[in-house]
Amino acid sequence: MKILIIGGGNMGMTYAQSFLRSHITDKANMMILERSPEKASIVANTGIGTVCNHPGDCLSHADLIIFAVKPQDSVELFTSIRSFINSEQVFLSIMAGVKIKTICESLNVTKVIRAMPNLPAQVGLGMTAFTSSDEVSRLELVMVQNLINTTGKSIYVEKESSIDAATAISGSGPAYVYHFMNAMIQAAKGMGFNDSEAELLVSQTFKGAVDLYSKNNFSCQEWISKVASKGGTTEAAISSFVANEVEKDIISGAEAAHTRAIELGKVAVGSKTK
Ligand SMILES: NC(=O)c1ccc[n+]([C@@H]2O[C@H](COP(=O)([O-])OP(=O)(O)OC[C@H]3O[C@@H](n4cnc5c(N)ncnc54)[C@H](OP(=O)(O)O)[C@@H]3O)[C@@H](O)[C@H]2O)c1
Repeated sequence: MKILIIGGGNMGMTYAQSFLRSHITDKANMMILERSPEKASIVANTGIGTVCNHPGDCLSHADLIIFAVKPQDSVELFTSIRSFINSEQVFLSIMAGVKIKTICESLNVTKVIRAMPNLPAQVGLGMTAFTSSDEVSRLELVMVQNLINTTGKSIYVEKESSIDAATAISGSGPAYVYHFMNAMIQAAKGMGFNDSEAELLVSQTFKGAVDLYSKNNFSCQEWISKVASKGGTTEAAISSFVANEVEKDIISGAEAAHTRAIELGKVAVGSKTK
């Protein structure tokens, strides 16, 4: 299967590197399309497959075409590729907010998969939610899921609206974690640790807590009660979080992200709601 990634930016390069690192494909079957000759030559210098900067040079050779450009560039992209594609090709879009229906109508194609990855894909620990149009076959879907899974884990969602929900949880989620980590780093520094000590204390605590959680079947609440003994230090912190309604604030934050994802989907350039 020949793969073409359109857009050699953060996510496009993350995908290309993950596919190659996992040996799910090789350089001979990998193409990247960048619109500027300067950027195309920078990407070509990474030695990551065939790099083109004109759609006519690569589109017709691809079985799977991955859209990894910013949503605001989608209309220009669709215009530039329309005459080089065919109805047998499968399209995977990771553009936030751009709906399957918009892609099908803009390109006159039917086989479209839409995915929402997240930043830890860069280190193979990404989380992706994806869905597809009815015309994508089971085999095509499995092939694309195998590619996505080289960047971490994935779930298939039946309803396209769940992509907006996943955007609010796993898409934006890494930033919520960094927000919480940042607060803990500040607390550590306030207690006398230097920058690197504070960062190590906090990052290793997050890593350890998440690893422990994922290797066992206990809920978060059960883990909290394992750490917090009656009248102890952890209970003092958790009681303060509860009194300050921290949990409610985090839920409200995620809901705000969900509302924004829905709004952006409605205004995404050239899109129509499904
Ligand atoms: N970054 C994330 O964590 C993340 C997470 C989930 C989803 N996404 C989605 O992933 C997509 C890409 O994000 P990104 O952060 O990788 O963006 P990025 O770093 O800006 O990369 C996009 C690349 O596409 C190129 N490009 C734009 N239009 C093109 C065209 N018509 N033909 C060929 N190349 C074109 C851009 O070139 P120029 O520099 O010349 O514009 C740029 O190099 C976005 O739609 C975003 O919503 C990103």
